[in-house]
Amino acid sequence: MRSFTSLLALGLLATVATAAPTTRALARRQNETDTDRLVFAHFMMGIVANRASAADYDNDMRLAKAAGIDAFALNIGTDAYNEKQLDYAYVSAEANGMKVFMSFDFHYFEVGNAGAVATLVKKFSGYTGQLKVDNKVFVSSFVGDGLNPQQLRDQAGVDIYLAPNFAPAKTASAAPVDGALNWMAWDSDGANKAPKPGKNVTVGDGDATYTQWLGATKGYIAPISPWFSTHYGPEVAYSKNWVFPSDLLWYTRWTQILALRPRFVEILTWNDYGESHYVGPLASPHTDDGNSKWVHGMPHTGWLDMAAPFIAAYKAGKKTPEVAEAAEKLVYWYRPTPKTADCDATDTTMLPAADPANENYFMGRPDGHAALEDAVFVVALLHSAGTVTVSSGANTETFEAPAGASAWKVAMGVGKQTFKLERGGKEVLSETSKRDVSETCPCGIYNFNAYVGTVPKGEGGEDELAAEGMAAIRKGLAEGVKCPV
Ligand SMILES: *[C@@H]1O[C@H](CO)[C@@H](O)[C@H](O)[C@H]1NC(C)=O
Ligand SMILES: *[C@@H]1O[C@H](CO)[C@@H](O)[C@H](O)[C@H]1NC(C)=O
Repeated sequence: MRSFTSLLALGLLATVATAAPTTRALARRQNETDTDRLVFAHFMMGIVANRASAADYDNDMRLAKAAGIDAFALNIGTDAYNEKQLDYAYVSAEANGMKVFMSFDFHYFEVGNAGAVATLVKKFSGYTGQLKVDNKVFVSSFVGDGLNPQQLRDQAGVDIYLAPNFAPAKTASAAPVDGALNWMAWDSDGANKAPKPGKNVTVGDGDATYTQWLGATKGYIAPISPWFSTHYGPEVAYSKNWVFPSDLLWYTRWTQILALRPRFVEILTWNDYGESHYVGPLASPHTDDGNSKWVHGMPHTGWLDMAAPFIAAYKAGKKTPEVAEAAEKLVYWYRPTPKTADCDATDTTMLPAADPANENYFMGRPDGHAALEDAVFVVALLHSAGTVTVSSGANTETFEAPAGASAWKVAMGVGKQTFKLERGGKEVLSETSKRDVSETCPCGIYNFNAYVGTVPKGEGGEDELAAEGMAAIRKGLAEGVKCPV
């Protein structure tokens, strides 16, 4: 696969950047094999205040780059530690041949205060680690409709490629921006919860809305996410408890991305543990906002391994990934308990939230859980066709998997989870997952996060939270429940 920096070395980006803008945009549309595509991963700065040096970012940079990710979108609020952490991240990016850019979170920044954004853009624009697109400083956001792009450009005093998370429904014209991020990587009811009967806004609907709004010449940042599950009870002020349909989303959405071929893709997210859509390591240094009770023991880096051949295909303009013989693997995932497991006696969300008007809060099993399937999901990444056998508890199924990527599922069974690849009756790969499916509620709670593993075991095999990442693990838990599990 080609990284952003190797493109720079080849002078390809420089060539692209010096062409006249209209010619370049036209060429991008017409040329199926052009190579200016970039992949980002959304990185939450709000949970890394405990990092002590640029080196604390190195492992994230190294792993992301190895998967083909070009830049981290650094989600920042207005906390005092932000600038120090931004400096560390920018310095580490440079040291590791990665790029970063700021994604201003307008739950904290004010849309009426473009100056606060401009000050930070200007301050970090000179760092080598800053992502530039079309020779401009790349700037993005989380929400932010109402921000005045011209004010931001004037006050920053540097050329900006502005690709905020504006919503077409809230900002009438895309004329003042260069591109935009769509956040909705999950099918929803149109109101930030799981689809309901008669209300189903798909991820593909979002692609259509954004690409139509942006027109042919502006850069669409298409979202992709592997999962969504959050389960904060009244033990924290930000109680929220819902899931979005996830299941095989990581596979089906990558397939859509290869067909759509947007200019940019943003993985949601690298490290948002609280909403269970991290693809980075658990061991990545961070603090605990109360998520550790559903995150510990639930590695996700197998999803990053799975992304690598899709990212390579996306950049090469191919519709399907190719897998080298040495890179063959099975990536599998499942929830730790069937939906029927009853955790009512000990779950953290059996009490009302402090704020009765909190529309993100639901008691018991997370809102939207009914749409999730009790299944074990497997993606085979094969150099040549093979026979895949999956056993989930007492359920065993065998599939004839083709070369390339293919997805399969088996009904979830309580007990051991085993995965095998054979060719010509001979075993090629085989593994039993570290995590059994169980009817016992882990930490006493409804945990709808996913356990992700690979065969053969990759770096994710021994991945676990560090002490600071589980500092709040018992907060709100029932007396006597075993936690960590
Ligand atoms: C399309 O892009 C590729 C890679 O940048 C380039 O080699 C090729 O010449 C381009 N084709 C056309 C028709 O512009
Ligand atoms: C929403 O629509 C998509 C596309 O038709 C479909 O795959 C999905 O199952 C629907 N979800 C619900 C909950 O109806």
